[in-house]
Amino acid sequence: MSAESLLPVPAECDIDPERRTWLLATGAMGAAAVTAVAVPLVSSFAPSERAKALGAAVSMDPLTVAPGEIKTVEWRGQPVWVMRRTPDMLAALEHVEGLADPASEVKQQPPYATNPHRSIKPELLVAVGICTHLGCSPVNLPQGTTNTSVPADWKGGFFCPCHGSTFDLAGRVFKNKPAPTNLVVPPHQYLADGTLLIGEDGSGAT
Ligand code: FES
Repeated sequence: MSAESLLPVPAECDIDPERRTWLLATGAMGAAAVTAVAVPLVSSFAPSERAKALGAAVSMDPLTVAPGEIKTVEWRGQPVWVMRRTPDMLAALEHVEGLADPASEVKQQPPYATNPHRSIKPELLVAVGICTHLGCSPVNLPQGTTNTSVPADWKGGFFCPCHGSTFDLAGRVFKNKPAPTNLVVPPHQYLADGTLLIGEDGSGAT
């Protein structure tokens, strides 16, 4: 996965505070974690300003996400990551040690994502990219990163530069970190292989 430029923070102040928080955090984390890989925002799939204000579900095409890549969709002012995990990444999930809630017993995900990979389709992670400690935006640190904030046997995952919480490639938080819970998996469903709807899953939960 090639390094991408960091998300720009709009100079104007006419965006809502919640969105501004994660945009600013995204910029800050890039400075703090030089080997981190920034996540591109899928702006072409963003709903209208009015729809966003209403918290409408948003759709994107997961087929455009390459193996190992993450794209970010904005939903309710929050960044939602869509990551296509490779077979090696999925295999590594089975051997991650030191997780605080490996079986996702704390309800941070819908029932259909309460499984080891925390997703509907094993290869596709859909998670809110906001740290469950104080709301910073974690960065993606792939396996083999030279960032010394994670252990040498790091299998890939996410690192929050604000206070050092770490999460695996299923968004499961490691023990003894400030973040109390796994990353949130939002309600979502696949209307077709090329259509992922985030924010609405047909169950009535949003
Ligand atoms: S906000 Fe992420 S560790 Fe504190």
